[in-house]
Amino acid sequence: MNSVFLNGAYLPKDQARISVDDRGFVFGDGIYEVVRIIEGRIFAWGEHAARMARGLDAVRIPFSASDVAGLEAVCNTLIADNDLQSGEATVYFQVSRGAAPRTHYFPPAGTPPTVYAAPSRFTPSRDMREKGVKAITVPDLRWARCDLKTVNLMGAVLARQAAHESGAYEALMIRDGMMMEGAATNAFAVIDGVVRTYPLSNYILPGITRQYVLDAARDVGVPVSEEPVTQAQMFAAPELFIVGTTTDVAPIVLLDGKTVGSGSPGPVTKKVQAAFLARLYGSAAVAH
Ligand code: PDD
Repeated sequence: MNSVFLNGAYLPKDQARISVDDRGFVFGDGIYEVVRIIEGRIFAWGEHAARMARGLDAVRIPFSASDVAGLEAVCNTLIADNDLQSGEATVYFQVSRGAAPRTHYFPPAGTPPTVYAAPSRFTPSRDMREKGVKAITVPDLRWARCDLKTVNLMGAVLARQAAHESGAYEALMIRDGMMMEGAATNAFAVIDGVVRTYPLSNYILPGITRQYVLDAARDVGVPVSEEPVTQAQMFAAPELFIVGTTTDVAPIVLLDGKTVGSGSPGPVTKKVQAAFLARLYGSAAVAH
């Protein structure tokens, strides 16, 4: 139990070691992914792998799309070795630019990337789904490549801590007066019956759940629009919700201490949530 994958080997997590010169450690110079496992099956592997390969290519870490494809077998080995064929789990993947004496520019060609994957048991929160969550707004202090899932998460860490300190689950990032996304989720508003979310750009992560939610909503006849939501519209919206790999679809019932809509999850959110969960669980028999 509790085995992880590090640079080609499977070993107990407490025996996994990386160099203090690792550029993931020193610079946050790496790309990560988090996937959901339901009854031993990886949800949306193809989409996660494509995003990871695109991110690695964008930051020029020499780990190709076919190297990323190879992580699917790693993931399946971790699922088997850690008894995760039933119930739910997540697997975290990280590829950094490897270990080398500290220079800001890239290390010598041939420096092997550090490749890590680790599973965790995961139980989705029924309360969060059914009763909703509190959120706060914070200024978006992050950089201009939020579309890349880099391990540099200082903006998200500080935002989530601010949420945590005010008893909220998520911090919604405001940039130029617009709702961008949460610290670790994509954000949606229901305005005039239309489900709205920020369009794909360099300022938000192209969330896998976001895409599934848009498709699921369309499928059940809920109109969707990828267009920015202003801060004023956010506070006037009768329904708000956030989505992500470990959040699914969570209604927001309180924003900066103000009630959203009626103060309980709204009908459009519930409809979209049900449509998404049907896709997530498919025919899985796991209780959810
Ligand atoms: N976070 N936006 C940000 C900034 C995120 O970090 C995440 C995911 C999302 C949702 O993306 P997806 O649906 O692909 O999980 C949106 C992961 C789960 C994390 O950091 O743990």
